[in-house]
Amino acid sequence: MESIDYSETIPNNVNLSEDRALRRALEHWQPNYLDWWKDMGPDGSAEFDVYLRTATGVDPKGWAHYDYVKMPDYRWGIFLSPAEAGRKIQFGDHKGEDAWQTVPGEHRANLRRIIVTQGDTEPASVEQQRHLGHTAPSLYDLRNIFQINVEEGRHLWAMVYLLHKYFGRDGREEGEALLERRSGEQDNPRILQAFNERTPDWLAFFMFTYFTDRDGKFQLCALAESGFDPLSRTTRFMLTEEAHHMFIGESGISRIVQRTCQVMNEMKTDDPKTIREAGVIDLPTIQKYLNFHYSVTIDLFGADESSNAATFYSSGLKGRFEESRQHDDHVLRDDSYEVPEVRDGKIVPRQVPMLNALNEVLRDNYIADSNKGLKRWNRVMEKAGIPFRLTIPHKAFNRKIGSLAGSHVAPDGTVLTRARWDARRDAWLPTDSDRAFVANLMGRVVEPGRFANWIAPPRFGVNGQSADFRYVRFD
Ligand SMILES: [Fe+2]
Ligand SMILES: [Fe+2]
Repeated sequence: MESIDYSETIPNNVNLSEDRALRRALEHWQPNYLDWWKDMGPDGSAEFDVYLRTATGVDPKGWAHYDYVKMPDYRWGIFLSPAEAGRKIQFGDHKGEDAWQTVPGEHRANLRRIIVTQGDTEPASVEQQRHLGHTAPSLYDLRNIFQINVEEGRHLWAMVYLLHKYFGRDGREEGEALLERRSGEQDNPRILQAFNERTPDWLAFFMFTYFTDRDGKFQLCALAESGFDPLSRTTRFMLTEEAHHMFIGESGISRIVQRTCQVMNEMKTDDPKTIREAGVIDLPTIQKYLNFHYSVTIDLFGADESSNAATFYSSGLKGRFEESRQHDDHVLRDDSYEVPEVRDGKIVPRQVPMLNALNEVLRDNYIADSNKGLKRWNRVMEKAGIPFRLTIPHKAFNRKIGSLAGSHVAPDGTVLTRARWDARRDAWLPTDSDRAFVANLMGRVVEPGRFANWIAPPRFGVNGQSADFRYVRFD
């Protein structure tokens, strides 16, 4: 089960050749997927030879194989982490029972909804990023975004496999609908709002992969705990790829900060206008992008008080982050949790039943994790002797979902009137002119070893290759 069969039309490690009905269903979906990729995948890239990694096994060691591939020929397939013998459900009302190998009838609708919602984010991000190849700051970066795009495509495959195998006709219909919705399209948008926002430039892209792919990590970690074993196994393998996406984001922002600091030191200035004229991104603009991507991403965790979250947990469908490391009864009926709300112009804590607060718990786990990369970015400034520091805004800032939606809160947590917020908004979130400035900086750099002026080269190349390696070949 651990090695992947590449002789099949659909590479897999799930013995697809033995399940003829499933194989037929997936082989029927495959050309539709490829049509979607041609329409909505990286724009104008079909003929490029891209130095990509492909999974060859699902064990942590040596699963990657690197070679030039034309993206439409990428071997998307179905890869599950190995089954754990005798695995039990770790939490909720079914705690201690054997993990399910089939879908329990009473949880079918919820499970389908969870899988569809996760699946929908995967093609959405490819759609959001599809024009960025035209403005890549280097071949190295171009290759990296393409790698992420093909892996998000595979994550869609992972969810569609579950839908086809376990949800019959409804599952197949959902599989089609996943190819029909479009990021940002009014009539048929993607399910979650952050996946309908634009990712118009590379600063946005790196923020997205740092913050929004990290939401992916936390959702997948919670689903990896699922009592529905096939979901647990698919998401565990997806997580190995997610780590790389977040690395691209973290190192991308580091490199931008590094280059900006270098120019600031050379010119001995911290004046944003002068810095912009030198063709690099001023640090306050980076902070504004951070504020935007962070706030739309923490909305993805959902309402702070949610009966769905309670149901998903109690019925064993979705656990907590690192469920097994929590020292409690894993049932949570008697516990409570603090969620923030705005009352009389102040943010005050409110106790809610723990089960209903599990979205907030996951959001708080996410917030702690987000801070780690931030420290690294700040260390780049510290080393360069620049006093500026990036900060994570208060979690009530710019929220559109949950009890904080509708209130106006500054990045430092001060509650404001609507008028005060309107007056200050442009200091905290990217304005049209900030975005236009960043967009103007972006021009394609594709000479091997060259990097756009606004970003430093990476410390290491991909797979031991040098920075001037031809990561993408155009002819
Ligand atoms: Fe993904
Ligand atoms: Fe990702």
